[in-house]
Amino acid sequence: MNCSRAVAACCLWRLRTGRLQPLSAYGRRISVRFCSSGMTLDNINREAVDRIIRVDHAGEYGANRIYAGQMAVLGRTSIGPVIQKMWDQEKDHLKKFNELMVAFRVRPTILMPFWNVVGFALGAGTALLGKEGAMACTVAVEESIAHHYNNQIRTLMEKEPEKYEELLQVIRKFRDEELEHHDIGLEHDAELAPAYTVLKSIIQAGCRVAIYLSERL
Ligand SMILES: [Fe+2]
Ligand SMILES: [Fe+2]
Repeated sequence: MNCSRAVAACCLWRLRTGRLQPLSAYGRRISVRFCSSGMTLDNINREAVDRIIRVDHAGEYGANRIYAGQMAVLGRTSIGPVIQKMWDQEKDHLKKFNELMVAFRVRPTILMPFWNVVGFALGAGTALLGKEGAMACTVAVEESIAHHYNNQIRTLMEKEPEKYEELLQVIRKFRDEELEHHDIGLEHDAELAPAYTVLKSIIQAGCRVAIYLSERL
């Protein structure tokens, strides 16, 4: 079994699919059931699900790069373990969206190399302002991501919520964890960062652009 097929098999196993056929290497029609809900490759709104999984994967990837940048600067300071704990949760988020991309055959955004560099630079750059700068970045980004996840929850609820129940569960869980990160940022003096309000506004404007582009490209 080559590497990509092994990953696909592993991911599909993790999804605990009900009726499962292996992914075809030649693009044959497959039927994947997402956990116990009725969400399959055949009956979902492809456009909406593609867009949701692609942008969320990009967002979680970007979050991982931000925390990597913060850890590169502040990893050995007293705030290091706090940042590491949030990063560990982001790793789980990214892992889940990697699995969903394979299961639902969604391609990543073409902007991944760009988010790699921009995410790390944002994390490291704000961390160079000090612990408060890093936490201000966390507050700004996590608030934007939580807002974005809430929009997606509304979108799926307006369609057929029972069909998308398990995707909704993933998004709700991650939304709650992003809000925890937001609160941790506030508890660790985010608001004491230099030019906090301006910094937060600039980062959140960047997040809105990143979301817009990652949904479409
Ligand atoms: Fe996340
Ligand atoms: Fe987060």
